[in-house]
Amino acid sequence: MTSILVTGGTGTLGRLLVPLLDGHRVRVLSRRGHGPVDGVEHVTGDLLTGEGVEAAVDGAEIVLHLAGGPKGDAEATDRLVRAATRAGGVRHIVHISAIGADRVPLAWFRAKLGAERAVADSGLPWTILRAAQFHDLVLTVVGKMAKLPVVPIPGGLRFEPVDARDVAERLAELTLGAPAGLVPDLAGPTVYGLRDLVRGYLAAHDKRRPTLPVRMPGKAGRAYRAGENLSGDGATKGMRTWEDFLAERVPATR
Ligand SMILES: NC(=O)c1ccc[n+]([C@@H]2O[C@H](COP(=O)([O-])OP(=O)(O)OC[C@H]3O[C@@H](n4cnc5c(N)ncnc54)[C@H](OP(=O)(O)O)[C@@H]3O)[C@@H](O)[C@H]2O)c1
Repeated sequence: MTSILVTGGTGTLGRLLVPLLDGHRVRVLSRRGHGPVDGVEHVTGDLLTGEGVEAAVDGAEIVLHLAGGPKGDAEATDRLVRAATRAGGVRHIVHISAIGADRVPLAWFRAKLGAERAVADSGLPWTILRAAQFHDLVLTVVGKMAKLPVVPIPGGLRFEPVDARDVAERLAELTLGAPAGLVPDLAGPTVYGLRDLVRGYLAAHDKRRPTLPVRMPGKAGRAYRAGENLSGDGATKGMRTWEDFLAERVPATR
């Protein structure tokens, strides 16, 4: 039985991943408490302020770092790896990053790259998996777009959304395996234009909306049109498609 600290174990990905670590001593760190989960210890703390982080890493042999937010991931990760190094017993740190972290010139991707560097420079044995956008995130974004009377579609943007369950399964395997450095990207099985993702959403909701082609400006627009957010050669592909996800989710939300 291994002691595993899962930061962000209450989030979209974490809730799917924690049960896959059954049979190990699992501690979850997040800012807010949550209801009891069988066999899982929950501690509260904040990686952005450092509160509760030393106590969370105490006794951990593996740190699975999933916690993340819109801002501050590099600083939060730096704080975590320092605490993990000081704690002395950590033999593997595993981190989830995003495909394009090193190529898409947007603040969130830069923060993910900063977090990757904090892990890789920590001196601890490490594994980093870069994943594509989760279906849940695409659902939130496309759902907001589809509320507009006319849906603007930036041209030339492609995505290969992945199911968070596929990411959870891959990360569980990596967490319990040997440190592997930067492993092949994990993306969904299909590349979609943004228009296809919106159309799939509208069709699943039995809605119609006119769309308006627009151009995403600047360096970020160029990077997306060049496919810098897409997985590289040798990527691992998830099993579940956007259509599979919609078929499961939409009846519940209609
Ligand atoms: N969603 C995507 O499409 C996507 C794609 C690629 C990579 N990723 C990465 O995958 C990871 C998980 O994503 P997700 O979608 O599961 O995120 P999520 O649903 O927003 O969950 C974030 C988790 O982190 C915790 N957390 C956030 N800030 C924290 C802090 N300062 N200190 C301690 N805990 C904190 C949250 O709990 P509290 O709010 O209670 O603290 C929650 O448990 C993130 O690192 C994200 O960048 C996501």
